[in-house]
Amino acid sequence: MKDKIILIQGAMDIEVEYFIRNLEKKEKHIIAGYEFYTGYIHTSKIIISKTLVGVVNATTATTIAIMTFHPDIVINQGIAGAHRTNIHIGDIVIGEKCCNINAFSMPTKKEGCSSNPFEWEPNKRGEEIQNGDKTLVTVFKDFFESNYENGIYTGILGSGDVFNREYDRIMWLQKRFHHLSEDMESIGMYCVCNQFEIPCVGIRIISNNELTNEKLDKEQAIRLQELFIKFFKT
Ligand code: 5AD
Repeated sequence: MKDKIILIQGAMDIEVEYFIRNLEKKEKHIIAGYEFYTGYIHTSKIIISKTLVGVVNATTATTIAIMTFHPDIVINQGIAGAHRTNIHIGDIVIGEKCCNINAFSMPTKKEGCSSNPFEWEPNKRGEEIQNGDKTLVTVFKDFFESNYENGIYTGILGSGDVFNREYDRIMWLQKRFHHLSEDMESIGMYCVCNQFEIPCVGIRIISNNELTNEKLDKEQAIRLQELFIKFFKT
């Protein structure tokens, strides 16, 4: 990864603040309201991007960053909810692939006929699978496995503008998309990077698990940034 320009994204302050503090020769850029910080971590040339929350923001911020800073690699990182009973707070998921788990079509129902989300089916966007870069997946999996005590999982990241909190709904989604986790940004980044043919990966630390009743712990975001800093320093 030496000599590459690396774009690292996080949606919320808590997901980028530790990076920004550790950035050397830091310069701040604001474009259309989105914040970017260029600089170095050790010898790596890094751009930190605060994408803001949600798919539209992540898509916009990724496009701006690619057109402005021309990164060689894009990493979308932050917190996510686990959609498996065996994945817990503090575990890390690495996205070999990414699915839009919030893109559905539904049967017509007349007035007074209620709504049944279990009858919905993924639409064209929901069926599309986006790809992460295989080398990036392997490099980070190997590094995390030898530098981190909690579980490391590789597979499909689920993403969309939704925070599912219903057990049956999560299991229904799980049966269709076979994903590990849910976040609100990575699908935007994967779609843009796949279009531009820029190697990318989504890496998330689990902050909550609605299936096992593990409550949201946003502080996990800092642990993941600490690990990335260690990665770039070694
Ligand atoms: N579902 C959706 N988004 C989640 N996030 C953390 N947990 C979840 C979850 N279970 C992330 C999103 C968004 C913010 C709410 O935290 O990516 O940025």
